[in-house]
Amino acid sequence: MQTNRWQAVKMASQFLAPYRRQIAYALLALLFTAGITLSIGQGIRLLIDQGFATASADLLAHYVLIFIGLIVALAIGTFTRYYWVTWLGERVVADIRDKVFRHLIELYPGFFEQNRSLEIQSRLTADTTLLQSVIGSSVSMALRNLIMMLGGIVWLFITNAKLTAIVMISVPLVVTPILIYGRRVRRLSRVSQDKVANVGAYVGEVLGQLKTVQAYNHQDIDKQRFHQHVEDAFRVAKQRTVQRGLLITIVIVLVLGAVALMLWIGGLDVIEGRITGGELAAFVFYSVIVGSAVGSISEVIGELQRAAGATERIVELLASRSEILTPENPASLPEQVQGDIAIQQLTFSYPSRNGIPAIDGLSLQVRKGETLALVGPSGAGKSTLFDLLLRFFDADKGSILLDGQDARQLDLKDLRRCFALVSQNPVLFYGTVEDNLKYARPDISEEAMIAAAKAAHAHDFITALPEGYQTRLGDAGTGLSGGQKQRLAIARAILADAPILLLDEATSALDAQSEYWVQQALDQLMIGRTTLVIAHRLATVKNADRIAVLDHGKLDALGTHEELLEKSELYARLASLQFRYGSTESEACAE
Ligand SMILES: Nc1ncnc2c1ncn2[C@@H]1O[C@H](COP(=O)(O)OP(=O)(O)OP(=O)(O)O)[C@@H](O)[C@H]1O
Ligand SMILES: [Mg+2]
Repeated sequence: MQTNRWQAVKMASQFLAPYRRQIAYALLALLFTAGITLSIGQGIRLLIDQGFATASADLLAHYVLIFIGLIVALAIGTFTRYYWVTWLGERVVADIRDKVFRHLIELYPGFFEQNRSLEIQSRLTADTTLLQSVIGSSVSMALRNLIMMLGGIVWLFITNAKLTAIVMISVPLVVTPILIYGRRVRRLSRVSQDKVANVGAYVGEVLGQLKTVQAYNHQDIDKQRFHQHVEDAFRVAKQRTVQRGLLITIVIVLVLGAVALMLWIGGLDVIEGRITGGELAAFVFYSVIVGSAVGSISEVIGELQRAAGATERIVELLASRSEILTPENPASLPEQVQGDIAIQQLTFSYPSRNGIPAIDGLSLQVRKGETLALVGPSGAGKSTLFDLLLRFFDADKGSILLDGQDARQLDLKDLRRCFALVSQNPVLFYGTVEDNLKYARPDISEEAMIAAAKAAHAHDFITALPEGYQTRLGDAGTGLSGGQKQRLAIARAILADAPILLLDEATSALDAQSEYWVQQALDQLMIGRTTLVIAHRLATVKNADRIAVLDHGKLDALGTHEELLEKSELYARLASLQFRYGSTESEACAE
């Protein structure tokens, strides 16, 4: 806990460090305005004692002018302070958001399976917004009030030591409840922010899958659950507000009570002629300043503590280390990667499924330029093998060699450059069709892009879209059919121009006609490239050089279609089911 707090302070100062100059401006303006505010008290004293008491119109005008001058200076100083302090808040938070995003996007995918990514996302927005308000106002408020409080106390003593003693007695009375309630407020704040993050995450998840939600008439249940989250957040916020409200109430009562007491004693002094009216007025002015400074500080302390919580969480996030890293001294791949893959005794179980292996002692050689098909029942570990090849996860045992180099010894970027992936659920991004096609290589030429789209049988439907290649797709490529998305994903992979192709059910969503054409294009693409194809339809698989049958993460058999019909009971069963039902299925697709 304490180390966390320390790290939070360290992080905040690291982010502030580059802006020393701006901090200096803000501090100067702050000192300046505080100084002027404090001197207004003297202005009031002079105004009353000299201006009014001497009954001289000239003197009065003189002091009023001084007073106006002070106010103009105060206004200018306040503008400067406000500008620089807000600037700092916005700047630092922009830097923090940037840094956190840069960190998150390099983390290994497994991290987001263990930590809900939507929650991280909504926390990030909430936490950084809080930091922004704290750096961009609360800190300056705290500092300003601290200076006012100290300066006010000094002036109080100068003006009247006896009355000051009365004020000072009330200080510990005010500070003690601040400390007690401040701690409670802080704890509740953290809980409250977690609850709010839950609310955000829930909205994101449900709206992201709205069709499924509505198709199953799940709205009422979601309304109920969401209501629960909202009420939870409200309940905690209410508790926090009560504590904070109590804190403010106590402070007001104590501070104004002390002022009343002081007015009484001071008023008697004026009546007795021991002090002047101007002195009493200045004194009241200073004590109100000190009092409201203490009040503001107590309020700001709550804010600061909330911000400390937010910073701690950001520090935690930044401290999370990727488990998949480029080694210190990465081995290098030759300029021309051959695409030889050797999988040796590979065993892997997902972190969330500890113990149950998704890949179990798998050994497999894929020669350069070869097309190897992976077949097997659902859940056999085919997609997982692709994840391991791309090093989204590291195997528990065994290794993967790429052109004879252990994949873990390679620079991650070099390793991934070797692969073009068409995943089982092709993912497109918010942006134009062109943005999505050029995803792997933004600098590719227009002609190359169109050629790839043609090869993937996507050009015709793209040009039929309202704005062709410039058509905007929604989040995750909404607005396209499943087969269209798949063809875009294939064109994207063609453009990636990598030595190894990984096709995970790449043509599963296509009708027989398109599948035929896309298959032609893929066949072209496969020439000279190592290709791993996962396919359920054995028709797609039959043309592969070799077929590997996976079952429960193990290699069941390896060979050509004919060999496997002989050798593998599992394959023969899959094949006979396919030829009995498979043909009608693909005809149905063609309709
Ligand atoms: N992210 C994950 N976390 C935990 N377990 C997973 C994860 N992804 C897959 N699994 C499990 O690992 C096993 C292999 O899954 P995998 O996706 O590799 O199967 P597959 O052969 O591609 O199946 P399909 O043909 O249905 O796509 C399954 O038992 C699955 O439940
Ligand atoms: Mg799969």
